[in-house]
Amino acid sequence: MGFHHIPVLVTETVEWLSVRPGGVYVDGTVGEGGHSAAILAASGPDGAILGIDRDPRSVDAARLRLADYGARAQIVHGNYAEMSDLARQAGIERVDGILLDLGFSSRQVDAVGYGFSFQRDEPLDMRYDTVGSTAADFVNHADERDVADVIYRYGEERRSRAVARAIVAARPITTTGGLASVIARALGGRRGSRHPATRTFQALRIAVNEELMHLQAGLDAALAVLKPGGRLVVISYHSLEDRLVKSWMDREAARCICPPELPVCACDHEPSVRFVRRRVVRPSAAETDNNPRSRSARLRAVERI
Ligand SMILES: C[S@@+](CC[C@H](N)C(=O)[O-])C[C@H]1O[C@@H](n2cnc3c(N)ncnc32)[C@H](O)[C@@H]1O
Repeated sequence: MGFHHIPVLVTETVEWLSVRPGGVYVDGTVGEGGHSAAILAASGPDGAILGIDRDPRSVDAARLRLADYGARAQIVHGNYAEMSDLARQAGIERVDGILLDLGFSSRQVDAVGYGFSFQRDEPLDMRYDTVGSTAADFVNHADERDVADVIYRYGEERRSRAVARAIVAARPITTTGGLASVIARALGGRRGSRHPATRTFQALRIAVNEELMHLQAGLDAALAVLKPGGRLVVISYHSLEDRLVKSWMDREAARCICPPELPVCACDHEPSVRFVRRRVVRPSAAETDNNPRSRSARLRAVERI
């Protein structure tokens, strides 16, 4: 089986996770196992990884790719927001490093059946997992105001109300192509190089999978799973994710979280992490030339105190 997804910032991930022989790691978004393979190689001969993915189809792909590592690689179906429980069930107490490589893989965008992309006409699904409500359920049943809110908040679409109005008028919408043409009619032609449906598709994917809620819970859960000195590396692909990650890291690393107008500190906040690098890590020109998907990637890293 060929692997479709080109992992992003792999060398930098291994470096900022400070992967060492014999270390134990959680890959919370194992996908096709590209990053996990690099972590297993760098932690040999006896390092181990717990790979988690919400998508059972990704779990199958990662198991296949990492089969040669035997018991060093445990791959489980689940949500990284629940990594504490998943680690315990796998017999792991604390780990040396955790990776979250957010969003979807190229395989999920290009494979038939997920409904993430408007490049192909197929059922409007957008779930990573195979349970729960689909994007079609949402666009066909939510109030117009809720549809507009989601498109504004998670897609940062300025004309969210016009899009929501057009969606409600065109119900039922059952396919990606159907939704894309409703949005294109509401907003007019292309905006620069982007299809007019790009922002709305992003918004629906985030909403259907409750991505930001799980990200917040996953960051909090990482604190419970990391050993002191253990590293957390997060790679995000759009500004909503990156803002959430940055403000979580800033807050967890701060000595004081009092409102700025207070003259003296009254919070007794204890930092739980420290920055191993303040600045965000971006892919090199060579990487973005080879893998255009990496262009928007931003890596941030902290160390558990
Ligand atoms: C960018 S891909 C990861 C690619 C992977 N690093 C690789 O090298 O193949 C993101 C993966 O995270 C999974 N995912 C998204 N949200 C998740 C969550 N809350 N918990 C676990 N996995 C999640 C997706 O199903 C997808 O497979």
